[in-house]
Amino acid sequence: GGLVWRGCTAECDAEDGTAGTLTDGNANPGDKLEGSDAAPDDPVHLKRRVGLFSGVALIVGTMIGSGIFVSPSGLLVRTGSVGISFIIWMACGLLSLLGALAYAELGTMNTSSGAEYAYFMDAFGGPPAFLFSWVSTLVLKPSQMAIICLSFAKYAVEPFVAECEPPDSLVKLVAVICIVMILAVNCYSVNLATNVQNIFTAAKLAAIAIIVCGGAYKLILGNTRHLQEPNFASSTATLGNIATAFYTGLWAYDGWNNLNYVTEEIKNPSKNLPLSIIIGIPLVTLCYALVNVSYLAVMSVSEMTDSDAVAVTFGNRLLGPMAWLMPLAVTISTFGSANGTLFVAGRLCFAASREGHLLDILSYVHVRRFTPAPGLIFHSLIAVAMVLSGTIDSLIDFFSFTAWIFYGGAMLALIVMRYTKPHAPRPYKVPIIIPILVLVVSTYLVVAPIVDKPQWEYLYAAAFILAGLVVYVPFVKWGFSLPFMDKITVLLQMVLEVVPTSTTFE
Ligand code: ARG
Repeated sequence: GGLVWRGCTAECDAEDGTAGTLTDGNANPGDKLEGSDAAPDDPVHLKRRVGLFSGVALIVGTMIGSGIFVSPSGLLVRTGSVGISFIIWMACGLLSLLGALAYAELGTMNTSSGAEYAYFMDAFGGPPAFLFSWVSTLVLKPSQMAIICLSFAKYAVEPFVAECEPPDSLVKLVAVICIVMILAVNCYSVNLATNVQNIFTAAKLAAIAIIVCGGAYKLILGNTRHLQEPNFASSTATLGNIATAFYTGLWAYDGWNNLNYVTEEIKNPSKNLPLSIIIGIPLVTLCYALVNVSYLAVMSVSEMTDSDAVAVTFGNRLLGPMAWLMPLAVTISTFGSANGTLFVAGRLCFAASREGHLLDILSYVHVRRFTPAPGLIFHSLIAVAMVLSGTIDSLIDFFSFTAWIFYGGAMLALIVMRYTKPHAPRPYKVPIIIPILVLVVSTYLVVAPIVDKPQWEYLYAAAFILAGLVVYVPFVKWGFSLPFMDKITVLLQMVLEVVPTSTTFE
């Protein structure tokens, strides 16, 4: 009998559901490390348990993380105008919705987990799919972790430094501690990780509700002054500035495609995937609009741009003795978001390594805990390196630039498949103008900052993507493997107590 990864989704304990199978293509249950004690004869099944409600919760729970509590200041700084930044906030919501609708077609057409990875495989074949998994395991997922944990740290230390700039090294240290804690949770048990996710999602909605109620209260008292000066004229926006302002805003919405990474576990995906998207993303957009208005009901523009942590300043102005509630709620929200991000990263690793696209060890699971420990540890190590070497803003630009290359690529995949697979069943078909529009916008988002203000970071990112090809040809295409790799794998297996998986989705 082989060992299995009892992975499950954020809504692990929810409903049971219908069938659909997936078997791990290249794993050899029980090889390399024999005689483990926990090997059951029946594979443990990963069920379709994500219904409509859980689907919406999964989208909303990932999207609301650090961004809405941190980014509004950055957006104001980059645009220099309340009016323009509000328009950008709303445009980001619309862009995410349109992008997600296109993903709904892709996700209902190809229902295997892994999102972009699976679509690139279908539309363009192995090399682009490999490049995606290469970049997302080495850059995208770890940088998401790094950014969210840095925001966590910023808020965790803020109450102790009373509205002045906390020392950088302290913030970084706390961010690293946060990564280690989340790694421990996810390595300890899948159930613990999903419970953390659920509880923390509820907490972040409570935080949003507090902010919105506080703002509404101020507006009723007649405090509408700061909202009446949209300042279009004072705007400092150049084309490249607007693109990077979009990066800041889109970061807050990132995660709109997260349901696509777990399609294999959605009940009745052709109905529930599009529906969750249509409910979830406008809901988040509405929350963000209300929160932005609330901030300005309580603070002036300059107070906002000066503040290092908008939500804390908001709490200090409004909540009096309860001001500690705000940083607490935000740390909880970011912690939950980081937890979900590491969780999804594990899935992606799994989807790519079952095609033989990543090191085998990254798809192994712990013998007793059934958690994909090596992949999680690997992601966390890179995230720690990024925390130590970057700042929130530089990481967000770097992340968004790279991410939008691939989001755009997914739009292209959709358009290409309309020609190459015209008769494939498409339970949900998006009007073709939508992916075309998103493709144009993502091209702008990638090109404009380079043209406007060339930075080495963009070149590194592009070079890094292409470097993937250098790895792809010998190691994946020709199946070449380094002579000492087997020894390292066995050593790591013994140290980490992990074995290959065989997973069945039921
Ligand atoms: N939008 C989230 C935030 O504001 C970040 C989500 C990270 N992305 C992800 N796919 N997990 O913090």
